[in-house]
Amino acid sequence: MAVIKVRNTKEVIEGHDNVLSFLEKQGVLYEHWDMSKLPEGLREKFDLNDQEKEEILSTFKEDIEELAGRRGYKTWDVITLSDATPNLDELLKKFENVHVHTEDEVRAIAAGHGIFIIKGDEQTGYFDVELEAGDVISVPEGNPHFFTLMEDRKVVAVRLFIETEGWVAHPYQEKDEVNQ
Ligand SMILES: [Fe+2]
Repeated sequence: MAVIKVRNTKEVIEGHDNVLSFLEKQGVLYEHWDMSKLPEGLREKFDLNDQEKEEILSTFKEDIEELAGRRGYKTWDVITLSDATPNLDELLKKFENVHVHTEDEVRAIAAGHGIFIIKGDEQTGYFDVELEAGDVISVPEGNPHFFTLMEDRKVVAVRLFIETEGWVAHPYQEKDEVNQ
């Protein structure tokens, strides 16, 4: 289950209903898929070949198609990051820049963990959403955010897109930073 940490106030939000209502208020979609459907051999495997990625997609075919149909997503794939990923540190450094996309950033965590750091409304500011297997999140189009791994430094996630070209990171700068 996801845990939220608000950066300014250090408030921690836990428990499904609390997390859901906080994220709803911030316009962030949060759902849950049953990851026990995954074959055991894929639950803790982070170095995946194409066939194993296909197996993950076929395991969650119904969940994916239901979400896609509801939200207009058209394509999907599986991404994995771990110490087996070449240049993981370089990649993580690149990820840690606040950016926006011209479509939603949708991730269903299949194994491991990940954190989205999302810019909330003016009163809330930035908050971390710590995600574990089964958590599904959609960061809204145009909403500043960045992504990083947790201490285990590994994740497998299903990504859904409207168009893969829409998922380009555009750097985001705070207005007062721009004016300085
Ligand atoms: Fe992003």
